[in-house]
Amino acid sequence: MSGIAYANGAYVRSRDAVVSIEDRGYQFADGVYEVCEVFHGELIDERRHLERLERSLAELRIAPPVKLAALKVILREILARNRVADGYVYIQVTRGVAPRDHVFPDPPARPSLIVTARRINPEKGEAAARKGVAVITTPDIRWKRVDIKSISLLPNVLARQEAKEKGAYEAWLLDSDGMVSEGAASNAWIVDAGGTIVTRQLDHSILRGITRTTLLEIIAALGLRLEERKFSVEEALVAREAFVTGATTLVMPVIAIDGHAIGDGAPGPVASKLRALLHRMAAHST
Ligand code: PDD
Repeated sequence: MSGIAYANGAYVRSRDAVVSIEDRGYQFADGVYEVCEVFHGELIDERRHLERLERSLAELRIAPPVKLAALKVILREILARNRVADGYVYIQVTRGVAPRDHVFPDPPARPSLIVTARRINPEKGEAAARKGVAVITTPDIRWKRVDIKSISLLPNVLARQEAKEKGAYEAWLLDSDGMVSEGAASNAWIVDAGGTIVTRQLDHSILRGITRTTLLEIIAALGLRLEERKFSVEEALVAREAFVTGATTLVMPVIAIDGHAIGDGAPGPVASKLRALLHRMAAHST
C-alpha cells in the first residue's frame, strides 16, 4: 500500500509524488531534515525538533518553506492520513528548484518541503533493547558542520552499511584523535568505570540530538553524575555500559564494540532505566 506524502503544497500518494530533477536537494544535497518520533499518536519533543529545523535552515540561509503553525498542521495531517500512531514523521526542506549552479539562486527559489510518515512496531525496538546491540567503529569522514542536520549523509550511509555488513546495529564515528564523535545516526554514550555517564560535549562535530537533550534533563532530575566530554574507544571498551540515543532508537543499550563485550555483555541498568523513563519525560504533543 502506498502511503500519503505532503509534497510542495499537496497531499499525494507517495508513489505519485515527484520532485524536479533540478531540485537542489537532489543535485547538491542542499537541504535539511528532521525525524520526529510518534508514540501512541503523539509527536515526541515536537517543539525541539521544529526549533532545530529552524536553526538548520538559518545556518544554511534557507527560508522556512511555510509558517510554523502550518507545518504543525501538515505533520498532523500526514499522521492522520497514514494512520500512524507509532512511528515517525520525516520532514525535508531543500533550497528549491533552480538551474544547476553552485551559488544560491538569486532571486531565491521557493524552498521545497516534503513530509512523510511511517509506522514502526514499537515492540521491535523493545525486543532489540532487551538484548542490546553491537556497534563497530569507523573513521568520521564527514564535513565539519555536522551540527546542521543536513541531508548530505553519504558518510553516514557508508558507515551504517559497514556496520550492517559486520553484523552490527550502528557505527561509532572516530575523529582524527581516535575519540568517538557520535553514531552514524545516533548520539554515543558510556557509563565510565567510575559510574559517571559520559557523552561528547556540543560543538560543530556532533548533532545536538533531541533525545540527547531530553536525556540530559532526565539524568539531572535523577541526580546521576554526568560529564559532557570526549571519550576514546579504549575508554569505551572498559566502560561499565554503553548506549546510543536517537528519535527512533530511543535509548539503545550497546553490548559490544568492535566485537568486544561491554560490561558483562548484557544491557546495563543505567541504559535500561533511562530508556524506561524517556517517554515519560519527553514532551508529548498531539
Ligand atoms: N538521526 N546524530 C546523528 C548523526 C543523527 O543522524 C541522529 C538522528 C542523532 C540523534 O538525534 P535525535 O535524538 O534528535 O534523533 C545523532 C535520525 C533519526 C535519522 O537520520 O534518521
